[in-house]
Amino acid sequence: MSLFPRCDSSPHWAALHNHFQHTGAAFDVRQAFAAEPDRFQRWSLQAPEVFADLSKNRIDAKTLELLLGLAKDVQLEAQREALFNGDPINHTEGRAVLHTALRAPAGQAPFSDEVQASLDRMLAFADSVRDQAISGITDVVHIGIGGSDLGPAMVVQALQAYVPATLKLHFVSNVDGHDLAPVLRGLNPATTQFVVASKTFTTQETLANAQAAKAWFLQQGGTDIARHFAATTSNAKAAAEFGITTTFAFWDWVGGRYSLWSVIGLPIAIAVGAENFKALLAGAHAMDQHFRIAPLATNLPVLLGLLDVWYRNFHGFTSRSVAPYHQGLRRLPAYLQQLEMESNGKGVDRDGQPLGYGTSPVVWGEAGTNGQHAYFQMLHQGTDVIPVEFIAVKTPQFGAHVSGELLTRLQDQHTKLLANCLAQSQALMQGKTAEAAVAESAPTASKDLAPDVLARHRSFPGNRPSTTLMLEALTPASLGALIALYEHRVFVSGAVWNINSFDQWGVELGKALCNSLLPRLTSGDLTGLDASTAGLLTRLKR
Ligand code: F6P
Repeated sequence: MSLFPRCDSSPHWAALHNHFQHTGAAFDVRQAFAAEPDRFQRWSLQAPEVFADLSKNRIDAKTLELLLGLAKDVQLEAQREALFNGDPINHTEGRAVLHTALRAPAGQAPFSDEVQASLDRMLAFADSVRDQAISGITDVVHIGIGGSDLGPAMVVQALQAYVPATLKLHFVSNVDGHDLAPVLRGLNPATTQFVVASKTFTTQETLANAQAAKAWFLQQGGTDIARHFAATTSNAKAAAEFGITTTFAFWDWVGGRYSLWSVIGLPIAIAVGAENFKALLAGAHAMDQHFRIAPLATNLPVLLGLLDVWYRNFHGFTSRSVAPYHQGLRRLPAYLQQLEMESNGKGVDRDGQPLGYGTSPVVWGEAGTNGQHAYFQMLHQGTDVIPVEFIAVKTPQFGAHVSGELLTRLQDQHTKLLANCLAQSQALMQGKTAEAAVAESAPTASKDLAPDVLARHRSFPGNRPSTTLMLEALTPASLGALIALYEHRVFVSGAVWNINSFDQWGVELGKALCNSLLPRLTSGDLTGLDASTAGLLTRLKR
């Protein structure tokens, strides 16, 4: 039996339904601003490195009071302590979940000695590769997938301002050879470092790419595999069998999608250096402390997680869009998809009982302003309400090569970027009435349509909720805090839903079926296959 109650057994769950029926459903953010002159101050919060404006959400004091009551009923604080203490909260795999221990200062979390020793060894290796005068390495090819790719790839892209221009980091994840082949083009084995990242060291895609990379290395006359290939894994034995002797190990209590803080962060450390990697950890730790200590009502991961529950289970919103207004964060939505949807895309509670309520929303998005010219139309005028999360970065960092007129121009572009970010959340909230649309001139509109018909096409419902997160600059520390914020927010909604946010059995079936189909793609054997799969396989073989 789960130690913690289900949300739907909480009296506050019923009270929230009642509150939603009576006032929540009709809540209008515009009216809330009119009634609450200090709404921005009331609903914004400075957490470590991250400022959050929640004021454009469909939330009021009563909603928050009930959500906090729900958090108490499900014993959120006790669940949080179980996380930090290293209790085996990933109970279907009998594991603790201790990514927070990876970023805690020495002596302040479980397994501290092992963690510090592993970190020191990984950082020393990273700096030895980064020292190009000695290593001669110009290119690092990182091979991994899922949690062994998305975090490092996203962070390295975000922190480009900290990467030497002479060092190129490449990330290969897909079993599709079109991922590896273009990366290898033009590389020199003597100046290339490969890192094979796989927690289990059994993942088909990663092993196939690693074998192919090794074949390329030897074919190109590469020597000294021991020097040019390293592995980051919790299965050092399998890495050794593969032929990799430089191995950085980690533990089963680090989940794949929570592993960028471990040796899986090796490409990050090579890219930005040991001190910046430590700053990334420190930023995350600051957010850990905030999450662990701040009262629930002023605790940013708690507020965001509870807001997610409010939207998912009471408003019935099934998706959330993330719009980072920083090109360096363009892979953040993909990273968050794994973090949130692999963690909370579950259909049974901790006791294996079916849930009568929704869990993970679909998380998706694109960097602003690009998304504005693609799907924002639907956010503004579509039939679904999709809460949007804007991420703004106040100060740009273009790199030392940007100066003079170019710098002036790019700074001006940054101002335009920020104006776009503010304008989108404003437009989603304000909307535009048909009367306002009629009153406006619309030079490109058809003259053949009646003004009121045209106005209906050109009006916006408004009252579309959004949150804005703001960073002073995109630094290792602020990025660490931002990622930790998301990790804990996912923990909060998962804790309310009484699910195991730390397993991922849902990806196993496809893997098993792939293994059984693979030989059939050569043999053509259709025995026992369903008609669709048999038909598709036959076409592929023809
Ligand atoms: O997609 C399933 C999964 O197990 C993820 O959870 C994990 O991040 C990814 O595969 C890669 O696994 P590994 O690091 O063991 O290669």
